[in-house]
Amino acid sequence: MNYLVTGGAGFLGTALSNRLAKQGHHVRVLDDCSAGDPAHLLPEVEFVQGDINEKTLLWKMLQDVDCVFHLAAKVSVPESSLFPSSYNHVNVSGTVTLMEAIRDTKVKRMVLASSGAIYGHQDQIPYFEDFEVHPESPYAVSKLAAEHYVRTISAQAGVEAVCLRIFNAYGPGQRVPHSHPPIIANFLKHALTNGTIIIHGDGSQTRDYVYVDDVVNALVTASTAVGVDQQVINIGSGVETSVLELVRLVRQVTGKKPEEVYNPLKSGGSTRMCADITKANEKLNYIPLVPLETGLRLTIERDPQYKKEIEAKPLA
Ligand SMILES: NC(=O)c1ccc[n+]([C@@H]2O[C@H](COP(=O)([O-])OP(=O)(O)OC[C@H]3O[C@@H](n4cnc5c(N)ncnc54)[C@H](O)[C@@H]3O)[C@@H](O)[C@H]2O)c1
Repeated sequence: MNYLVTGGAGFLGTALSNRLAKQGHHVRVLDDCSAGDPAHLLPEVEFVQGDINEKTLLWKMLQDVDCVFHLAAKVSVPESSLFPSSYNHVNVSGTVTLMEAIRDTKVKRMVLASSGAIYGHQDQIPYFEDFEVHPESPYAVSKLAAEHYVRTISAQAGVEAVCLRIFNAYGPGQRVPHSHPPIIANFLKHALTNGTIIIHGDGSQTRDYVYVDDVVNALVTASTAVGVDQQVINIGSGVETSVLELVRLVRQVTGKKPEEVYNPLKSGGSTRMCADITKANEKLNYIPLVPLETGLRLTIERDPQYKKEIEAKPLA
């Protein structure tokens, strides 16, 4: 098949594009490189640097494409509170521009990388797809708006569309930016460099951490599965893990004893989060294969950014 992956130079996009290319598909990537790096893409992946709001470029890139994976987005929850209009421009307007281009070309299906952040605080756990959503950040609002635009425009245009609500993904290739780094990459980096792990709140808040290969399995299956048009499907591990338990596992797999500092002034976000993955199992035959401890070990082994620290002290 011919695929377009927007945001394909990012963390999830690189893993997805390389998997598709290895399976023998033709893959085009569009990414503005604001957060991604095409250096990690396989040579057979066709890379174009450009913006998701450039409609003429999208038109050109969509020729002969069977399926679009839409991953291009700004992805930091705290940063979105500082720059909501910028998040709206990329995540919402960018999605609308893409959907217009998809409508006007002969694309058959599109898969949106949506987010579990859309749910916000819920009284019940795990989170089912039919829960009323309470987005709590401009990022979450932008992903919810993107879902609505994707489903509405695709239904009108006769394009099949699937929205995967991905929970906290992690794995090799996830960047650790100085401001607002993702929690697992941040904890691993600080543990391996004998730094300090900062825990917001009391560490009892829970999240659903899902390994990158499991997310890629779900994305790839969603591009050809039958009976998924217009569906919203959770993609997580289905396991709830507290921040304190995560710190314990990070200590165990790194063999290091980083200092822990609690920051009670900063909220840890929603108290509990966990995906119900029954629908993913029914619609996509999805079964998460990588438990958190294994995923942490694989992340350290496979990501070159951790190599130096591992050589200094081999893993147990
Ligand atoms: N990683 C997670 O835990 C997670 C969870 C839920 C949803 N998602 C979604 O999955 C997608 C990929 O996330 P990721 O973790 O790989 O993040 P990422 O930042 O690594 O990837 C996003 C990519 O989009 C690109 N991009 C940003 N603005 C762009 C623009 N204007 N035009 C073109 N490209 C642009 C960036 O350069 C980057 O390569 C996002 O849509 C995100 O909302 C991720």
